[in-house]
Amino acid sequence: MAPGIGASRYHRSRMDRWHTIIEPFRIKSVEPIRMTTADERAGKLAEAGHNLFNLHADDVLIDLLTDSGTGAMSAEQWAGIQRGDESYAGSPSWFRFLDAVTELWPFRHVIPTHQGRAAEKILFSVIGGAGKVIPSNTHFDTTRANVEFSGAEAVDCIIGEGRSPSVIHPFKGNMDTKALDALIRQRGVENIPVVFVTITNSGGGQPVSLANLRAVREVCDRYGLPLFLDACRFAENAWFIKQREEGYADASVPDIVREMAALADGMTMSGKKDALANIGGWLALNDDRWAEQCRNLLILTEGFPTYGGLAGRDLEAMAAGLREVVQDDYLRYRIRSTAYLGDALVEAGVPCVQPIGGHAVYLDAAALLPHIPALEYPGQALACALYREGGIRGCEIGTVMFGMRPDGSEVPAAMELVRLAIPRRVYTQSHIDYVIEVIRGVAARADELRGMRIVDQPAALRHFTARFEPV
Ligand SMILES: Cc1ncc(COP(=O)(O)O)c(C=O)c1O
Repeated sequence: MAPGIGASRYHRSRMDRWHTIIEPFRIKSVEPIRMTTADERAGKLAEAGHNLFNLHADDVLIDLLTDSGTGAMSAEQWAGIQRGDESYAGSPSWFRFLDAVTELWPFRHVIPTHQGRAAEKILFSVIGGAGKVIPSNTHFDTTRANVEFSGAEAVDCIIGEGRSPSVIHPFKGNMDTKALDALIRQRGVENIPVVFVTITNSGGGQPVSLANLRAVREVCDRYGLPLFLDACRFAENAWFIKQREEGYADASVPDIVREMAALADGMTMSGKKDALANIGGWLALNDDRWAEQCRNLLILTEGFPTYGGLAGRDLEAMAAGLREVVQDDYLRYRIRSTAYLGDALVEAGVPCVQPIGGHAVYLDAAALLPHIPALEYPGQALACALYREGGIRGCEIGTVMFGMRPDGSEVPAAMELVRLAIPRRVYTQSHIDYVIEVIRGVAARADELRGMRIVDQPAALRHFTARFEPV
Protein backbone atom coordinates (compact mmCIF):
# COMPACT_ATOMS: atom_id res chain seq x y z
CA MET A 1 0.00 0.00 0.00
CA ALA A 2 1.33 3.39 -0.93
CA PRO A 3 0.84 6.05 1.71
CA GLY A 4 -2.68 7.42 1.64
CA ILE A 5 -3.23 10.92 0.50
CA GLY A 6 -3.52 12.92 3.69
CA ALA A 7 -2.80 9.82 5.77
CA SER A 8 -3.95 10.63 9.26
CA ARG A 9 -1.57 10.60 12.19
CA TYR A 10 -3.58 7.75 13.64
CA HIS A 11 -2.45 5.22 11.09
CA ARG A 12 1.25 5.77 10.66
CA SER A 13 3.37 3.71 12.99
CA ARG A 14 6.13 5.59 14.76
CA MET A 15 8.48 2.72 13.89
CA ASP A 16 8.14 2.95 10.09
CA ARG A 17 11.34 3.89 8.27
CA TRP A 18 9.78 3.74 4.80
CA HIS A 19 6.56 5.40 3.84
CA THR A 20 5.19 2.53 1.75
CA ILE A 21 3.60 -0.28 3.72
CA ILE A 22 3.66 -3.44 1.63
CA GLU A 23 1.26 -6.36 1.86
CA PRO A 24 3.14 -8.67 4.26
CA PHE A 25 2.52 -11.75 2.09
CA ARG A 26 3.05 -13.12 -1.40
CA ILE A 27 0.26 -14.62 -3.50
CA LYS A 28 0.52 -18.21 -4.66
CA SER A 29 -3.05 -19.00 -5.59
CA VAL A 30 -5.36 -16.67 -7.53
CA GLU A 31 -9.06 -16.48 -8.33
CA PRO A 32 -10.14 -14.83 -11.59
CA ILE A 33 -12.52 -11.86 -11.51
CA ARG A 34 -15.13 -11.92 -14.30
CA MET A 35 -15.29 -8.51 -15.99
CA THR A 36 -18.76 -7.05 -16.64
CA THR A 37 -20.14 -3.94 -18.33
CA ALA A 38 -22.32 -1.25 -16.73
CA ASP A 39 -25.29 -2.33 -18.92
CA GLU A 40 -24.90 -5.94 -17.85
CA ARG A 41 -24.78 -4.87 -14.20
CA ALA A 42 -27.91 -2.71 -14.53
CA GLY A 43 -29.76 -5.84 -15.70
CA LYS A 44 -28.37 -7.95 -12.84
CA LEU A 45 -29.37 -5.26 -10.36
CA ALA A 46 -32.99 -5.24 -11.58
CA GLU A 47 -33.13 -9.07 -11.42
CA ALA A 48 -31.79 -8.91 -7.85
CA GLY A 49 -34.58 -6.53 -6.77
CA HIS A 50 -31.91 -3.87 -6.18
CA ASN A 51 -30.67 -5.87 -3.20
CA LEU A 52 -26.95 -6.59 -3.51
CA PHE A 53 -27.30 -9.66 -1.27
CA ASN A 54 -29.32 -11.26 -4.11
CA LEU A 55 -26.54 -10.98 -6.71
CA HIS A 56 -24.52 -13.91 -8.02
CA ALA A 57 -21.02 -13.21 -6.65
CA ASP A 58 -19.57 -13.92 -10.11
CA ASP A 59 -21.26 -10.71 -11.25
CA VAL A 60 -19.32 -8.64 -8.69
CA LEU A 61 -15.92 -7.15 -9.54
CA ILE A 62 -14.75 -6.01 -6.10
CA ASP A 63 -16.72 -7.56 -3.28
CA LEU A 64 -16.74 -5.32 -0.21
CA LEU A 65 -20.05 -6.63 1.10
CA THR A 66 -18.41 -7.98 4.21
CA ASP A 67 -15.09 -8.79 5.83
CA SER A 68 -16.74 -11.80 7.45
CA GLY A 69 -15.42 -15.16 6.32
CA THR A 70 -14.11 -13.64 3.10
CA GLY A 71 -10.41 -13.46 3.99
CA ALA A 72 -7.59 -15.36 2.34
CA MET A 73 -6.09 -18.06 4.52
CA SER A 74 -2.36 -18.50 4.95
CA ALA A 75 -0.27 -21.54 3.99
CA GLU A 76 -0.18 -22.40 7.72
CA GLN A 77 -3.95 -22.32 7.89
CA TRP A 78 -4.29 -24.56 4.83
CA ALA A 79 -1.79 -26.93 6.43
CA GLY A 80 -4.04 -26.94 9.50
CA ILE A 81 -7.00 -27.82 7.28
CA GLN A 82 -5.07 -30.92 6.16
CA ARG A 83 -4.10 -31.74 9.75
CA GLY A 84 -7.71 -31.44 10.97
CA ASP A 85 -8.71 -34.41 13.09
CA GLU A 86 -12.37 -35.30 12.78
CA SER A 87 -12.80 -37.35 15.95
CA TYR A 88 -16.30 -36.73 17.30
CA ALA A 89 -15.10 -36.08 20.85
CA GLY A 90 -11.76 -34.85 22.20
CA SER A 91 -10.12 -34.24 18.81
CA PRO A 92 -6.52 -32.94 18.96
CA SER A 93 -7.74 -30.12 16.70
CA TRP A 94 -10.10 -29.06 19.49
CA PHE A 95 -7.24 -28.91 21.97
CA ARG A 96 -5.08 -26.89 19.58
CA PHE A 97 -8.01 -24.50 19.11
CA LEU A 98 -8.64 -24.30 22.86
CA ASP A 99 -4.96 -23.48 23.52
CA ALA A 100 -4.95 -20.73 20.88
CA VAL A 101 -8.14 -19.17 22.28
CA THR A 102 -7.16 -19.31 25.95
CA GLU A 103 -3.66 -18.01 25.27
CA LEU A 104 -5.38 -14.71 24.44
CA TRP A 105 -8.71 -15.11 26.23
CA PRO A 106 -8.20 -17.16 29.39
CA PHE A 107 -11.90 -17.69 30.20
CA ARG A 108 -12.86 -20.86 32.10
CA HIS A 109 -15.25 -22.21 29.47
CA VAL A 110 -14.89 -22.10 25.69
CA ILE A 111 -17.87 -23.24 23.65
CA PRO A 112 -17.23 -23.55 19.90
CA THR A 113 -20.02 -22.54 17.53
CA HIS A 114 -20.36 -22.49 13.75
CA GLN A 115 -20.23 -18.68 13.75
CA GLY A 116 -20.75 -15.66 15.96
CA ARG A 117 -24.52 -15.47 15.81
CA ALA A 118 -24.83 -19.07 17.03
CA ALA A 119 -22.89 -18.03 20.14
CA GLU A 120 -25.27 -15.06 20.52
CA LYS A 121 -28.37 -17.23 20.04
CA ILE A 122 -27.23 -19.68 22.70
CA LEU A 123 -26.20 -16.98 25.18
CA PHE A 124 -29.35 -14.88 24.86
CA SER A 125 -31.58 -17.98 24.97
CA VAL A 126 -30.07 -18.59 28.41
CA ILE A 127 -29.84 -15.04 29.80
CA GLY A 128 -32.32 -13.01 27.70
CA GLY A 129 -36.13 -13.06 27.75
CA ALA A 130 -39.09 -10.70 28.09
CA GLY A 131 -38.49 -7.72 30.37
CA LYS A 132 -34.71 -7.99 30.14
CA VAL A 133 -32.50 -5.18 28.79
CA ILE A 134 -29.07 -5.71 27.20
CA PRO A 135 -26.94 -2.53 27.03
CA SER A 136 -24.04 -2.29 24.59
CA ASN A 137 -21.93 0.45 23.07
CA THR A 138 -23.42 -0.65 19.72
CA HIS A 139 -25.20 -3.92 19.08
CA PHE A 140 -24.36 -5.57 15.79
CA ASP A 141 -27.47 -6.46 13.76
CA THR A 142 -27.42 -10.21 14.55
CA THR A 143 -26.76 -9.43 18.22
CA ARG A 144 -29.71 -7.05 18.33
CA ALA A 145 -31.89 -9.57 16.47
CA ASN A 146 -30.94 -12.40 18.85
CA VAL A 147 -31.57 -10.20 21.90
CA GLU A 148 -34.96 -9.18 20.52
CA PHE A 149 -35.83 -12.73 19.45
CA SER A 150 -35.42 -13.78 23.09
CA GLY A 151 -37.97 -11.10 24.03
CA ALA A 152 -35.37 -8.76 25.56
CA GLU A 153 -34.54 -5.20 24.55
CA ALA A 154 -31.21 -4.12 23.03
CA VAL A 155 -30.09 -0.59 23.97
CA ASP A 156 -27.07 1.24 22.54
CA CYS A 157 -25.11 3.54 24.88
CA ILE A 158 -22.41 4.95 22.57
CA ILE A 159 -20.62 8.22 23.37
CA GLY A 160 -22.01 11.27 21.58
CA GLU A 161 -19.03 11.47 19.21
CA GLY A 162 -19.86 7.96 18.01
CA ARG A 163 -23.20 9.15 16.65
CA SER A 164 -21.73 11.82 14.44
CA PRO A 165 -19.97 10.56 11.27
CA SER A 166 -17.67 13.55 10.81
CA VAL A 167 -16.45 14.04 14.40
CA ILE A 168 -12.87 12.89 14.92
CA HIS A 169 -12.25 10.97 18.14
CA PRO A 170 -9.55 8.34 18.71
CA PHE A 171 -11.93 5.92 20.46
CA LYS A 172 -15.25 6.60 18.88
CA GLY A 173 -16.55 3.17 19.84
CA ASN A 174 -16.41 4.00 23.56
CA MET A 175 -19.41 3.34 25.75
CA ASP A 176 -21.16 6.31 27.37
CA THR A 177 -20.77 5.12 30.96
CA LYS A 178 -23.09 7.81 32.35
CA ALA A 179 -25.84 6.65 29.99
CA LEU A 180 -25.10 3.06 30.98
CA ASP A 181 -25.37 3.91 34.67
CA ALA A 182 -28.62 5.82 34.11
CA LEU A 183 -30.07 2.92 32.09
CA ILE A 184 -29.24 0.42 34.83
CA ARG A 185 -30.89 2.58 37.49
CA GLN A 186 -33.89 3.35 35.31
CA ARG A 187 -34.59 -0.23 34.18
CA GLY A 188 -33.54 -2.00 37.37
CA VAL A 189 -30.38 -3.97 37.87
CA GLU A 190 -32.41 -7.19 38.21
CA ASN A 191 -33.53 -6.80 34.58
CA ILE A 192 -30.03 -6.47 33.17
CA PRO A 193 -28.30 -9.84 32.89
CA VAL A 194 -25.14 -8.58 31.18
CA VAL A 195 -23.44 -5.50 29.73
CA PHE A 196 -21.92 -5.90 26.26
CA VAL A 197 -19.11 -3.96 24.57
CA THR A 198 -18.41 -4.54 20.86
CA ILE A 199 -14.73 -4.22 19.89
CA THR A 200 -14.31 -2.64 17.42
CA ASN A 201 -17.85 -1.28 17.34
CA SER A 202 -20.33 -1.95 14.58
CA GLY A 203 -21.03 1.72 13.86
CA GLY A 204 -17.83 2.34 11.92
CA GLY A 205 -15.23 -0.20 13.03
CA GLN A 206 -14.27 2.32 15.71
CA PRO A 207 -12.17 1.16 18.64
CA VAL A 208 -12.87 1.13 22.35
CA SER A 209 -10.04 2.22 24.66
CA LEU A 210 -8.80 0.21 27.60
CA ALA A 211 -9.58 3.22 29.79
CA ASN A 212 -13.20 3.04 28.66
CA LEU A 213 -13.36 -0.72 29.20
CA ARG A 214 -12.06 -0.12 32.73
CA ALA A 215 -14.74 2.53 33.29
CA VAL A 216 -17.45 0.15 32.04
CA ARG A 217 -16.03 -2.52 34.33
CA GLU A 218 -16.35 -0.11 37.27
CA VAL A 219 -20.02 0.49 36.48
CA CYS A 220 -20.56 -3.27 36.18
CA ASP A 221 -18.81 -3.87 39.52
CA ARG A 222 -20.93 -1.21 41.19
CA TYR A 223 -24.06 -3.14 40.25
CA GLY A 224 -22.63 -6.66 40.32
CA LEU A 225 -23.15 -7.15 36.58
CA PRO A 226 -21.03 -9.28 34.23
CA LEU A 227 -19.30 -7.65 31.28
CA PHE A 228 -19.10 -9.50 27.95
CA LEU A 229 -17.23 -8.49 24.82
CA ASP A 230 -18.43 -8.97 21.26
CA ALA A 231 -14.81 -9.50 20.29
CA CYS A 232 -15.08 -10.16 16.52
CA ARG A 233 -12.40 -7.59 15.65
CA PHE A 234 -10.40 -7.69 18.87
CA ALA A 235 -6.97 -7.62 17.17
CA GLU A 236 -7.84 -4.51 15.18
CA ASN A 237 -9.10 -2.90 18.40
CA ALA A 238 -5.86 -3.86 20.17
CA TRP A 239 -3.79 -2.33 17.37
CA PHE A 240 -5.67 0.96 17.70
CA ILE A 241 -4.98 0.89 21.46
CA LYS A 242 -1.27 0.35 20.74
CA GLN A 243 -1.29 3.26 18.28
CA ARG A 244 -3.50 5.73 20.10
CA GLU A 245 -3.78 5.07 23.82
CA GLU A 246 -1.30 6.66 26.19
CA GLY A 247 1.07 4.10 27.65
CA TYR A 248 0.54 1.23 25.17
CA ALA A 249 2.94 2.06 22.33
CA ASP A 250 5.44 -0.52 23.58
CA ALA A 251 2.94 -3.14 24.71
CA SER A 252 2.61 -6.26 22.58
CA VAL A 253 -0.74 -6.86 20.90
CA PRO A 254 -1.27 -10.22 22.68
CA ASP A 255 -0.67 -8.47 26.02
CA ILE A 256 -3.20 -5.78 25.15
CA VAL A 257 -5.71 -8.50 24.23
CA ARG A 258 -5.11 -10.25 27.55
CA GLU A 259 -5.65 -6.96 29.35
CA MET A 260 -9.02 -6.59 27.60
CA ALA A 261 -9.85 -10.19 28.54
CA ALA A 262 -8.99 -9.57 32.20
CA LEU A 263 -11.65 -6.85 32.33
CA ALA A 264 -14.41 -9.11 31.01
CA ASP A 265 -16.39 -12.13 32.19
CA GLY A 266 -17.03 -13.57 28.78
CA MET A 267 -17.12 -13.03 25.04
CA THR A 268 -18.94 -13.91 21.87
CA MET A 269 -16.76 -14.28 18.82
CA SER A 270 -17.07 -14.64 15.09
CA GLY A 271 -13.97 -16.50 13.91
CA LYS A 272 -14.79 -15.19 10.43
CA LYS A 273 -13.17 -11.89 11.33
CA ASP A 274 -10.16 -11.83 13.63
CA ALA A 275 -9.55 -15.57 13.69
CA LEU A 276 -8.86 -15.18 9.93
CA ALA A 277 -11.08 -18.18 9.12
CA ASN A 278 -13.87 -18.69 6.62
CA ILE A 279 -16.24 -20.15 9.21
CA GLY A 280 -16.33 -20.56 12.98
CA GLY A 281 -16.90 -18.79 16.26
CA TRP A 282 -17.18 -19.33 19.96
CA LEU A 283 -18.73 -18.29 23.22
CA ALA A 284 -16.37 -18.08 26.20
CA LEU A 285 -17.28 -17.29 29.78
CA ASN A 286 -16.34 -17.78 33.41
CA ASP A 287 -19.74 -18.47 34.96
CA ASP A 288 -20.12 -22.23 35.54
CA ARG A 289 -23.92 -22.25 35.71
CA TRP A 290 -24.42 -20.25 32.53
CA ALA A 291 -21.76 -22.37 30.82
CA GLU A 292 -23.60 -25.57 31.68
CA GLN A 293 -26.88 -24.20 30.35
CA CYS A 294 -25.17 -22.95 27.19
CA ARG A 295 -23.46 -26.31 26.60
CA ASN A 296 -26.81 -28.08 26.91
CA LEU A 297 -28.21 -25.82 24.19
CA LEU A 298 -25.03 -26.25 22.14
CA ILE A 299 -25.54 -30.03 22.07
CA LEU A 300 -29.14 -29.48 21.00
CA THR A 301 -28.41 -27.01 18.20
CA GLU A 302 -24.73 -27.11 17.21
CA GLY A 303 -22.96 -30.30 18.28
CA PHE A 304 -20.78 -31.93 20.90
CA PRO A 305 -18.86 -29.42 23.10
CA THR A 306 -15.46 -30.23 21.56
CA TYR A 307 -16.51 -29.34 18.01
CA GLY A 308 -19.63 -27.19 18.24
CA GLY A 309 -20.95 -26.69 14.74
CA LEU A 310 -17.56 -27.16 13.15
CA ALA A 311 -15.27 -29.70 11.56
CA GLY A 312 -11.90 -30.34 13.20
CA ARG A 313 -10.25 -28.67 10.21
CA ASP A 314 -12.19 -25.44 10.88
CA LEU A 315 -10.90 -25.41 14.46
CA GLU A 316 -7.35 -25.76 13.08
CA ALA A 317 -7.85 -22.82 10.70
CA MET A 318 -8.95 -20.61 13.59
CA ALA A 319 -6.10 -21.78 15.84
CA ALA A 320 -3.51 -20.79 13.21
CA GLY A 321 -5.41 -17.60 12.35
CA LEU A 322 -5.42 -16.45 15.97
CA ARG A 323 -1.63 -16.63 16.07
CA GLU A 324 -1.29 -14.65 12.80
CA VAL A 325 -3.87 -11.97 13.51
CA VAL A 326 -1.99 -10.52 16.49
CA GLN A 327 1.26 -10.02 14.57
CA ASP A 328 2.38 -6.40 14.18
CA ASP A 329 3.22 -6.72 10.46
CA TYR A 330 -0.24 -8.03 9.67
CA LEU A 331 -2.06 -5.43 11.77
CA ARG A 332 0.03 -2.51 10.51
CA TYR A 333 -0.82 -3.52 6.92
CA ARG A 334 -4.45 -4.23 7.75
CA ILE A 335 -5.24 -0.93 9.43
CA ARG A 336 -3.13 1.10 7.02
CA SER A 337 -4.75 -0.41 3.93
CA THR A 338 -8.25 0.40 5.18
CA ALA A 339 -7.11 3.96 5.90
CA TYR A 340 -5.58 4.18 2.40
CA LEU A 341 -9.04 3.84 0.87
CA GLY A 342 -10.70 6.12 3.40
CA ASP A 343 -8.09 8.87 3.32
CA ALA A 344 -8.23 9.05 -0.49
CA LEU A 345 -12.02 9.41 -0.40
CA VAL A 346 -11.93 12.07 2.31
CA GLU A 347 -9.28 13.93 0.30
CA ALA A 348 -11.65 13.82 -2.70
CA GLY A 349 -14.45 15.34 -0.61
CA VAL A 350 -16.51 12.16 -0.27
CA PRO A 351 -18.16 12.21 3.19
CA CYS A 352 -16.99 9.27 5.32
CA VAL A 353 -17.17 8.25 8.96
CA GLN A 354 -13.97 9.54 10.50
CA PRO A 355 -11.45 8.63 11.60
CA ILE A 356 -11.36 5.63 9.26
CA GLY A 357 -12.16 2.43 11.18
CA GLY A 358 -10.38 -0.89 11.22
CA HIS A 359 -12.19 -3.22 8.85
CA ALA A 360 -14.21 -0.93 6.66
CA VAL A 361 -14.72 2.50 5.20
CA TYR A 362 -18.21 3.87 5.84
CA LEU A 363 -19.57 6.31 3.29
CA ASP A 364 -21.98 8.86 4.74
CA ALA A 365 -24.89 8.56 2.32
CA ALA A 366 -27.03 11.07 4.22
CA ALA A 367 -24.38 13.77 3.68
CA LEU A 368 -23.67 12.78 0.06
CA LEU A 369 -27.36 12.50 -0.91
CA PRO A 370 -29.20 15.14 1.17
CA HIS A 371 -31.98 15.20 -1.45
CA ILE A 372 -33.00 11.59 -0.63
CA PRO A 373 -35.10 11.25 2.56
CA ALA A 374 -34.20 8.52 5.08
CA LEU A 375 -37.33 6.52 4.28
CA GLU A 376 -36.23 6.41 0.64
CA TYR A 377 -33.02 4.74 1.78
CA PRO A 378 -30.10 6.91 0.60
CA GLY A 379 -27.62 4.20 1.63
CA GLN A 380 -29.35 1.62 -0.53
CA ALA A 381 -29.42 4.07 -3.45
CA LEU A 382 -25.69 4.72 -3.11
CA ALA A 383 -24.79 1.04 -2.73
CA CYS A 384 -26.74 0.23 -5.90
CA ALA A 385 -25.03 3.06 -7.80
CA LEU A 386 -21.56 1.78 -6.84
CA TYR A 387 -22.46 -1.66 -8.15
CA ARG A 388 -24.03 -0.39 -11.35
CA GLU A 389 -21.18 1.98 -12.17
CA GLY A 390 -18.21 -0.11 -11.08
CA GLY A 391 -19.28 -3.60 -10.03
CA ILE A 392 -18.41 -2.77 -6.41
CA ARG A 393 -20.57 -4.43 -3.81
CA GLY A 394 -20.95 -2.63 -0.46
CA CYS A 395 -23.61 -2.89 2.21
CA GLU A 396 -26.23 -0.40 3.39
CA ILE A 397 -26.00 0.25 7.13
CA GLY A 398 -28.89 2.59 7.74
CA THR A 399 -32.65 2.67 7.68
CA VAL A 400 -32.96 -0.53 5.64
CA MET A 401 -30.89 -2.40 8.23
CA PHE A 402 -32.08 -0.75 11.43
CA GLY A 403 -35.26 1.19 10.58
CA MET A 404 -37.91 -1.48 11.07
CA ARG A 405 -39.22 -1.83 14.63
CA PRO A 406 -40.50 -5.14 16.04
CA ASP A 407 -44.12 -3.95 15.47
CA GLY A 408 -43.43 -3.45 11.75
CA SER A 409 -43.37 0.38 11.81
CA GLU A 410 -40.39 2.31 10.42
CA VAL A 411 -38.12 5.00 11.87
CA PRO A 412 -35.04 6.57 10.26
CA ALA A 413 -31.79 5.08 11.53
CA ALA A 414 -29.31 7.30 13.38
CA MET A 415 -26.98 7.26 10.35
CA GLU A 416 -27.29 6.39 6.67
CA LEU A 417 -24.06 4.64 5.77
CA VAL A 418 -22.67 2.37 3.08
CA ARG A 419 -20.06 0.03 4.46
CA LEU A 420 -17.18 -0.96 2.24
CA ALA A 421 -15.73 -3.82 4.25
CA ILE A 422 -12.25 -4.95 3.29
CA PRO A 423 -11.75 -8.72 3.18
CA ARG A 424 -8.51 -9.69 4.94
CA ARG A 425 -5.48 -10.27 2.70
CA VAL A 426 -7.59 -10.44 -0.50
CA TYR A 427 -7.35 -7.25 -2.56
CA THR A 428 -4.23 -5.44 -3.69
CA GLN A 429 -3.58 -1.73 -3.92
CA SER A 430 -4.65 -1.52 -7.58
CA HIS A 431 -8.04 -3.04 -6.72
CA ILE A 432 -8.44 -0.34 -4.10
CA ASP A 433 -7.27 2.38 -6.51
CA TYR A 434 -10.06 1.25 -8.86
CA VAL A 435 -12.60 1.47 -6.01
CA ILE A 436 -11.44 5.02 -5.24
CA GLU A 437 -11.85 6.02 -8.90
CA VAL A 438 -15.38 4.59 -9.14
CA ILE A 439 -16.56 6.22 -5.90
CA ARG A 440 -15.17 9.58 -6.95
CA GLY A 441 -17.07 9.25 -10.23
CA VAL A 442 -20.36 8.36 -8.51
CA ALA A 443 -19.92 11.16 -5.93
CA ALA A 444 -19.38 13.69 -8.71
CA ARG A 445 -22.88 12.91 -10.02
CA ALA A 446 -24.55 12.33 -6.64
CA ASP A 447 -27.40 14.74 -7.35
CA GLU A 448 -28.61 12.45 -10.17
CA LEU A 449 -29.24 9.51 -7.80
CA ARG A 450 -32.82 8.76 -6.79
CA GLY A 451 -34.23 7.03 -3.69
CA MET A 452 -35.67 3.51 -3.39
CA ARG A 453 -38.91 1.98 -2.14
CA ILE A 454 -39.35 -1.49 -0.66
CA VAL A 455 -41.70 -3.75 -2.62
CA ASP A 456 -41.27 -6.91 -0.53
CA GLN A 457 -39.70 -7.59 2.87
CA PRO A 458 -39.52 -10.25 5.59
CA ALA A 459 -40.47 -9.70 9.25
CA ALA A 460 -36.88 -9.48 10.58
CA LEU A 461 -33.36 -8.78 9.25
CA ARG A 462 -34.97 -7.36 6.14
CA HIS A 463 -31.76 -6.05 4.60
CA PHE A 464 -30.77 -9.59 3.59
CA THR A 465 -33.80 -10.36 1.41
CA ALA A 466 -35.99 -7.26 0.86
CA ARG A 467 -36.65 -6.26 -2.75
CA PHE A 468 -36.57 -2.63 -3.88
CA GLU A 469 -37.36 -0.48 -6.86
CA PRO A 470 -36.19 3.04 -7.68
CA VAL A 471 -38.61 5.80 -6.67
C1 LIG B 1 -19.64 -7.04 15.56
C2 LIG B 1 -20.23 -8.34 15.08
N1 LIG B 1 -20.82 -9.15 15.97
C3 LIG B 1 -21.34 -10.34 15.60
C4 LIG B 1 -21.31 -10.77 14.28
C5 LIG B 1 -21.93 -12.09 13.91
O1 LIG B 1 -20.97 -13.02 13.51
P1 LIG B 1 -21.28 -14.12 12.39
O2 LIG B 1 -21.45 -13.43 11.09
O3 LIG B 1 -20.09 -15.02 12.44
O4 LIG B 1 -22.53 -14.85 12.80
C6 LIG B 1 -20.71 -9.94 13.32
C7 LIG B 1 -20.69 -10.37 11.91
O5 LIG B 1 -20.52 -9.64 10.97
C8 LIG B 1 -20.16 -8.70 13.73
O6 LIG B 1 -19.58 -7.86 12.86
